[in-house]
Amino acid sequence: MTRAQIITRLVKPALFIALLAPLALLVGQGGSDNLGANPVETITHQTGIWALRLLLLTLAITPLCKLTGINELVRLRRMIGVYSFFYALLHFMTYAVLDHSFDMTAILEDVVKRPYVTVGFSVFLMLIPLAVTSTNGMVKRLGGKRWKRLHKLVYLCGLGGVVHYLWLVKADTFSPLNYLALFLILMLFRLPDRTQDKIKAVVRNVIPGKRATPMLKEE
Ligand code: HEM
Repeated sequence: MTRAQIITRLVKPALFIALLAPLALLVGQGGSDNLGANPVETITHQTGIWALRLLLLTLAITPLCKLTGINELVRLRRMIGVYSFFYALLHFMTYAVLDHSFDMTAILEDVVKRPYVTVGFSVFLMLIPLAVTSTNGMVKRLGGKRWKRLHKLVYLCGLGGVVHYLWLVKADTFSPLNYLALFLILMLFRLPDRTQDKIKAVVRNVIPGKRATPMLKEE
């Protein structure tokens, strides 16, 4: 089997099942009345954090391809991105249905009033066209150039997801700051070659005798 076949036939189906685990866990905990004192809060937190993790994992695929040389990993990116949208949808549905009984007026008031909800809601809205245009058919219909331009929105979604998390946390910002750091590192790989070279030179100066890890520009 070629590397591409291993990724497509083995890794992809395994990952598809693995990414259902957070949902299965929530359903299992719900079924056995184990969601804690505030089940809606638990579901909101779990779906939100998985939406963000998978969004950042989507952004990590290109750097991972470059660093490992396993370019076939790119075959997993679309599925992970769609899963991120799936968990964001569950997150929104939890908020809208379980928290606000689908009272659209109350939801819109909340979106306007609370900045972290405004940001979360904007990210959710931006994820919709990305998910809808994720099929091969849509890539063809839009044309490669327009599709690529549209999908640059994913960077804004990543930033928005992290800001949303950072903004809602009241005291312990350790976890959201880690996600922010990861996001910024992933963004370094998208910088133009010349800027990357300058950063590499600075790193080499700061750590004498150590060669900086090459960062490569996204295609
Ligand atoms: C539809 C729009 C959204 C709404 C209305 C919304 C609302 C919320 C609410 C009410 C919370 C819990 C706040 C608290 O505990 O005080 C939350 C948490 C969170 N949300 Fe969202 N959110 C939205 C979209 C998103 C998106 C798109 C992402 C990720 C890309 C996301 C990631 C998170 C994360 C990481 C948390 C914190 C989880 C934790 O505490 O472990 N949210 N969101």
